[in-house]
This record gives sequence, structure tokens and C-alpha cells, in this order.
Amino acid sequence: MKKLIVANWKMNLSRQNGLNLAQELADKLTAENYKKSQIIICPNFLYLAEIQAIFSGSKIALGAQNCSAFEKGSYTGQISAKQLADFGVSSVILGHAERRNYCCETNKIIKEKEKIAQKFGLLPIICIGENDEEKSSNKTEKVLKKQIKECCPENGFVLAYEPLWAIGKKSASILEISKICSLIKKIKNVPVLYGGFVKPHNANDFLNLENLDGILVGGASLKSSSFLKIIESAE
Ligand code: PGA
Repeated sequence: MKKLIVANWKMNLSRQNGLNLAQELADKLTAENYKKSQIIICPNFLYLAEIQAIFSGSKIALGAQNCSAFEKGSYTGQISAKQLADFGVSSVILGHAERRNYCCETNKIIKEKEKIAQKFGLLPIICIGENDEEKSSNKTEKVLKKQIKECCPENGFVLAYEPLWAIGKKSASILEISKICSLIKKIKNVPVLYGGFVKPHNANDFLNLENLDGILVGGASLKSSSFLKIIESAE
């Protein structure tokens, strides 16, 4: 089965560097890569139009890093799921740990966003994960179950397990990830991704894990050399 490889550029890359990176990926990805994996790139909103043009004719899909919980109207500064769909965006990351932390995004808000995203044909990639303290007090299972119960619809979405203690710091172990995948799939039978310090040297371990359906990559997706190495590790 194809693995899903999602790049989350976050608020990184200048316009020119973002466009160069998108062009390099479109030029360098091969039929063999596409046979093994499905690739989604999530740049910041401002680059979507130009990157959509670069990706047209390639098999790279365009994703967004967030969307509004509202359908339309007087919501200054927000971007709707429908507006994203108009730009050829096919999926959206929701409930990323950074948004939960810095933007006070709650499970309730994430659920609202997820409904709107599905309504306009976007695949929600819903992030869940425990923080350091929850992990050390053995609350991981409880936290994940609550997040799944409160944020997720019945079906038609992807779950990304992204423990907060792992993002940008150190990856979870294969054993931990495998255990969590089994737990998640018992609750919701949906594709599960892992995110948190996925790098060229460890991507192969994750992409080979049978019950894991793919990865969400932050820092290592910002350079074509490292991201292409990660994609190439899919077997
Ligand atoms: P990282 O980020 O790969 O830089 O750890 C992952 C993410 O936050 O999605």
C-alpha cells in the first residue's frame, strides 16, 4: 500500500525559497516515487496559488496548514475551507500541536473545522498527541482517547500521531508508535501517520512499520535534498 508523506512547511521559507523547493520536488520526483508514496505539500497560505501552478501536471498534492471553523462571512483574517478548495487544495492539517498551544485551539474548534473541511471536499489530517508531562505521568492513552473522541468524525479523515515532546526534538520509538497505532486503529479504523523528528536517517523505520500509513514531516521537508531522501526511503 502507498505510504502518505506529508510536508508541513509551517511558517518557514521565503517566497522564492518556497517556489524553488516546490519546483525542485516537481522536477525530481519520479514515477517510482509516486508508485510507493502519495505526497502532500502544505506550504503557507500565501504561496498556494503559485505552488498550485508548479504542481499542476505533477502528482504532488497541495495541502493547507489550517482553515477557518466558519464557512464564510465576517471573520477578519481567516481563510475558509471553500477558498482553499478553490486553489486546488485537497487536504488540511487540523489541530497541530503548535496551533493547540499558541492559538488556543480546542478539540471543539478542531471538530468544527473538520466538519467544514469535509463539506468542501478537503481531507482533514487531524493531529493528536500528548505532551511531556502527560507522557511522564502515563496519561498518553487517556489523552489520545479524549482527543479522538472529541475531534474526530466517523470516517473520511487521517489521524496524525504527533507527540508534543517529539516535534523538533527527538522521535518516538518504533515500539511506541506501533503500540499507539494499534490503539488508535481499535478506536477509529483510519489511516494513521506519525510526526515528530522524522529525518532522512530514521524515515525508513517509520515507513516500514506495517500498521503505520505514513509520516508528517516538519523541519526535514524544508530542503529538497533531505525531503527527497525521506521519500526515497519508502519501499
Ligand atoms: P518536525 O515537525 O518534523 O520538525 O519534528 C513535525 C511537525 O510538527 O509536523
